[in-house]
Amino acid sequence: MAIDYKNIEIKQRRVKELLKEKNAILLAHNYQRDEIQEIADFQGDSLELSIKANKTDADIIVFCGVRFMAESAAIMNPYKTVILPNENAGCPMVDMITAKDIINLKADYPDAPVVAYVNTSAECKAVSDICCTSANAVKVVNSLPAKRVIMVPDKNLGNYVQRFTDKDVISWPGYCPPHKRTIPEDIKKLKEKYPAALFVAHPESTPEAIDVADHVSSTSGMYKFVKESAAKYFIIGTERGIMYKMKKENPDKVFISSNSGLVCPNMKKTHLDDVIDSLENMKNIIKIPEEIRIKARKSIENMLSL
Ligand code: 13P
Ligand code: SF4
Repeated sequence: MAIDYKNIEIKQRRVKELLKEKNAILLAHNYQRDEIQEIADFQGDSLELSIKANKTDADIIVFCGVRFMAESAAIMNPYKTVILPNENAGCPMVDMITAKDIINLKADYPDAPVVAYVNTSAECKAVSDICCTSANAVKVVNSLPAKRVIMVPDKNLGNYVQRFTDKDVISWPGYCPPHKRTIPEDIKKLKEKYPAALFVAHPESTPEAIDVADHVSSTSGMYKFVKESAAKYFIIGTERGIMYKMKKENPDKVFISSNSGLVCPNMKKTHLDDVIDSLENMKNIIKIPEEIRIKARKSIENMLSL
């Protein structure tokens, strides 16, 4: 019979009990719900989470994020059990390209290696040459000897990288719906209200938003920036969940969301109940067909070896 958990602390205690009992580790992306962030064994951006998933001795990885992140952990750790507590936590950008689209792009540009953002399916990673995250996209592209590269699926990340490379970046027209909502007009209005505020943007933002940003980085890069900056006010141009830890770590600073609608509904799908249910019943285990896993692993390894 299902246990009637009374409140968040009781649920958090139950998660911790289960993690210990099953030798499991809970990894959480920086956009996760506050109560999940609070009990994570490790919290980070996509790159940090992939590295952590690779290094853990735990038998089970409970990945509180979205599917592509848990898939990457499963691709790299075939002998571990990887759980995505809410199986419906996806990323719409991932669904904007298929492996067939990438194969067609390769036929159109045979000299161009394919750089797949980690926000892709395992099948897409399997037909790409190397992966990247928002934290290392510029480095990955500049490490390639080719004169032009194909970047999938995020056109905004492709546009961002183009600013820092002499290579010709051919981008697929995918995008992140939540980040698309940050518009320069909102930033202008917020800067009128908070003239000393710095605008911090994610590379998934539109070029127009990047143009007016004071700092652009991955989500964990943002934590570092706001901590080290002498400024007091920050307009945060990424998913609101990131501000929980920012406020906790910097109680004297003020964080303002660039847009009150900047919420990733998929990152909010995972609740403590899902974590408890999936661990108690060993549900929502990520499975990747072996022939895809082996090829996708090569693309992730190529990235991590940098
Ligand atoms: P980070 O790798 O910067 O955490 O970004 C992941 C993501 O999905 C942003 O929307
Ligand atoms: Fe995908 Fe955007 Fe959500 Fe990140 S914020 S998981 S890119 S929809």
